[in-house]
Amino acid sequence: MVEQLRFTTPGERTRLLERAHYNPFLLHSDDVLIDLLTDSGTTAMSAKQWSALMDGDEAYAGSRSYYKFEDAVRDLTGFANIIPTHQGRAAEKILFTLLGAPGKVIPNNTHFDTTRANIEASGAEALDLPDPAGLHTETEAPFKGNMDLDALEAAIERIGAGNIPLVMLTLTNNSGGGQPASMENIRKTSEIAHRHGIPFFLDSCRFAENAMFIKMREPGYGSRTAKEIAQEMFSYADGCTMSAKKDGLVNTGGWLAMNDAELATRARNVLIVTEGFTTYGGLARRDLEAIARGLVEVLDESYLAYRLRSIEYLGDALMKNGVPILRPTGGHAVYLDARRFAPHLPLDNYPAQSIVCELYRHGGIRSVEVGSVMFGKYLPDGTQLHPRMQLVRLAIPRRVYTQSHIDYVAEAVSEVYANRESLPGLRITYEAPVLRHFTAHFEPVPAEAPLEALDLAALGLATFDVMSPREWAAH
Ligand code: F0G
Repeated sequence: MVEQLRFTTPGERTRLLERAHYNPFLLHSDDVLIDLLTDSGTTAMSAKQWSALMDGDEAYAGSRSYYKFEDAVRDLTGFANIIPTHQGRAAEKILFTLLGAPGKVIPNNTHFDTTRANIEASGAEALDLPDPAGLHTETEAPFKGNMDLDALEAAIERIGAGNIPLVMLTLTNNSGGGQPASMENIRKTSEIAHRHGIPFFLDSCRFAENAMFIKMREPGYGSRTAKEIAQEMFSYADGCTMSAKKDGLVNTGGWLAMNDAELATRARNVLIVTEGFTTYGGLARRDLEAIARGLVEVLDESYLAYRLRSIEYLGDALMKNGVPILRPTGGHAVYLDARRFAPHLPLDNYPAQSIVCELYRHGGIRSVEVGSVMFGKYLPDGTQLHPRMQLVRLAIPRRVYTQSHIDYVAEAVSEVYANRESLPGLRITYEAPVLRHFTAHFEPVPAEAPLEALDLAALGLATFDVMSPREWAAH
């Protein structure tokens, strides 16, 4: 699809930003020039996908389109039970409704925000165990999305396998910079979980990008196809959640898949209550056709090579201008390192959100904060605890923008960086109790009255991410 872009002036955008309470989630997309808010559901579908839509069989039950979808997902993942959902978080909701409960802990390399929220909503604890290499934005390493295997062993020892209903691994690690996990790490995570009798699930939203990184970077995989690599990744797992809005190359859809037949029966029963019948799960049946086709196209290696290279291209252009980014560039996004970009702003004044606002005001570019606004948590006394990484994600929609759009982005971001000292701090004037970043309101605070930031290291909390309820209690 080709979409018209609408130009606005910086003056108009100043007013629009104020109207949106300095939260670009609240902007009208018509007022955005280049939309890098997310790579989710923003894919341009192919002619073959659009024509597949026309062949959708809209039967409520037993639709032909469902069986095409099921064949495509089974061919890729090998899982016995494939349950369509309207998007990834619906799969998460079902899984954690069944397996989460107070006292349970679910480890992951890094949970995505909705995954964390669904786990916490079940009363369970979401535990992030990223490889230490992934905690440093400046380190160049091929697989910064890996699970910290020693920390996983130690966590299982400490918590007890009986309290861990599943171990997850997010491919690629979105909250950690779109970084891949290696096949070795996927296999070893699986071995550790299985040795303790714990099921192992993949959060597989960006499985194809992860597979291509393995092909390019992991010894022994250079001559394997991306599809074979993806199949091997899934072969180590007992199930997966999936948002097809990413590497399904569609505008909506997802699935929950697993080998455990008894768990699948329970999941289908929840699905029928909350999503829809087992052969459509909240989707139009034609959407299932588009996913089946998308799963073929996403594993085309010329597409994947272009995809990873185009992200790297933006990263290279920014680095050339001295803009601090998380290195190496990820599979779906370039992440600006707000701590180094705007070191004059205390974390309580949300430096990454301030950059997000200025990218919009200056260049009409919409991005998203992945830092304290998204993952900050309050201690009982109201002090805010900050995640270690303060990032601005420039997520690139699949098959949408051209090199000249990306050149424009590089130029605009570099200009904002050149004027970084004028970035104002922000404070929150409204926030929802969960997933506050979607709807929070902010206002600028005068730079001369910054709040004191909490010193994490002094609190002995130098590890990445928010405190879990268990850590709160200990603290
Ligand atoms: N897991 C990961 C790793 C994700 O990135 C997302 C969504 C989900 C699960 C949930 O999937 O949106 O279909 O319900 N990420 C989007 C993003 C929203 O912008 O990164 P969903």
